[in-house]
Amino acid sequence: MDVAVIGCGYVGLVTATCLASIGHSVRGVEKDQKKLRALKEGLPPFFEPALQDLMREHFASGSLQFTDNIKQAVRDAEVVYLAVGTPPKDDGTVDMSFLEGAGKELCDALADKNGDYMITVVVKSTVPAGTNRRLYNFLREQTRAYVQVVSNPEFLREGSAVKDFLEPDRIVIGGESPEAFRIMRRLYDPIIRREENFLTMNWESAELTKYAANSMLAARISFMNEMTILCEHYNADIEDIRKGIGTDVRIGPHFLRAGCGYGGSCFPKDVAAMEHISRTAGHESLFVHAIQATNKSQKRRFAEKIVAKLGRPIEGATIAVWGLAFKADTDDIREAAALDVIQYLLDKGAHVRATDPKAMENMKQVFKDKVEWMPDPVSAATGADAVALLTDWPQYSTLPFRKIAATMNQPLIFDGLNCLHRDVMRENGFQYYPIGRPAVEAKLRLKTRT
Ligand SMILES: NC(=O)c1ccc[n+]([C@@H]2O[C@H](COP(=O)([O-])OP(=O)(O)OC[C@H]3O[C@@H](n4cnc5c(N)ncnc54)[C@H](O)[C@@H]3O)[C@@H](O)[C@H]2O)c1
Repeated sequence: MDVAVIGCGYVGLVTATCLASIGHSVRGVEKDQKKLRALKEGLPPFFEPALQDLMREHFASGSLQFTDNIKQAVRDAEVVYLAVGTPPKDDGTVDMSFLEGAGKELCDALADKNGDYMITVVVKSTVPAGTNRRLYNFLREQTRAYVQVVSNPEFLREGSAVKDFLEPDRIVIGGESPEAFRIMRRLYDPIIRREENFLTMNWESAELTKYAANSMLAARISFMNEMTILCEHYNADIEDIRKGIGTDVRIGPHFLRAGCGYGGSCFPKDVAAMEHISRTAGHESLFVHAIQATNKSQKRRFAEKIVAKLGRPIEGATIAVWGLAFKADTDDIREAAALDVIQYLLDKGAHVRATDPKAMENMKQVFKDKVEWMPDPVSAATGADAVALLTDWPQYSTLPFRKIAATMNQPLIFDGLNCLHRDVMRENGFQYYPIGRPAVEAKLRLKTRT
């Protein structure tokens, strides 16, 4: 089918590339000129495993093209995706300006079409309940084209986005038109493995499904994070509790890993939006409020633990931060724990050295020369008073810890994601503080600085 995708960020570009890979002819529209330059060379403007090769293949074949000209992109399109950002405003409500802007541009691009021209608009962006219905009414009023609108919330995870898109657990389509449902069924045919995983519902149910999914996942993480407080007090191990409850079929094993607080472009903003969506409905959601408060305090608790256990004043201490991305396999730093922890340490007068295999350039935009940027974890730790591990990059668990212990000012690691092995830490003489797990509290041997 002939498809246009408006907005080629994480979701739009993955959508465009994957749709091209299952046989559709796709034009991506991106208005950010820097991103567009990369796209027009067949390169993704961000890091996402497996995306570059797939993109390159379909870009080379011509089935995937990019432009900033929306009119040209939608000229023959049967389906137009809106995949623009819906970031949070300062008060946590959803900034709808990109979606409204894209909707108006789409309207202008359809100005010369008449009722013979049928187009299905697919809202991929995460939007509050009622948005698709309003968009439908707006487009029906403003254009003569035969427009249908469906909500198609995206559940991909950065880091495994291509796989998640091409092998979805389910596809949710919200709308009112059986005809539009049929078009979407045909569009996604190659990736629908089981008919019952293609779910159709009304617009508002689809819109709320996305917020409910992210709030539920964030709630599970926040619950486990809260349990770490009890674990640390009573000398219990959150990993044992995770296994103990995750094997209960009513609970299941996923999203029960404790850490120093969730981040990313979705959970924080979607949970905040959920609180406002509830408020708009006249309901003050104590539950959704608690998910966020717990997450915020978990990030702060981690930073405070560094100060409390450092064994010397934080002012003037050197702290090496391993990992800046909000999770492994991405360069995305939106709402990453590293943002809060680094800011806290800087405010306390620490000298922060930071490293990350992919996200360093993005973090440099935030902290500039307030942080010393290091090429790798070993050099970051050299001469440091402590390491704070903040992203679960798998390579961090196999570092040369004996060498690291020998070159640090004092061998002390705060593991914000329980990535490292306690035995390895103990054997190499580290004082080691995981989250919600018994610490290794060897006596610190402080070296004299030269
Ligand atoms: N990132 C994720 O993991 C993820 C997962 C599921 C859902 N979502 C949702 O998908 C939506 C998009 O998220 P994202 O992370 O891809 O955002 P993003 O900010 O990475 O990308 C949005 C892109 O749209 C472009 N854009 C904005 N207005 C435009 C216009 N009028 N014409 C052309 N391009 C325009 C921007 O320049 C930007 O490149 C959001 O609603 C988000 O909540 C994101």
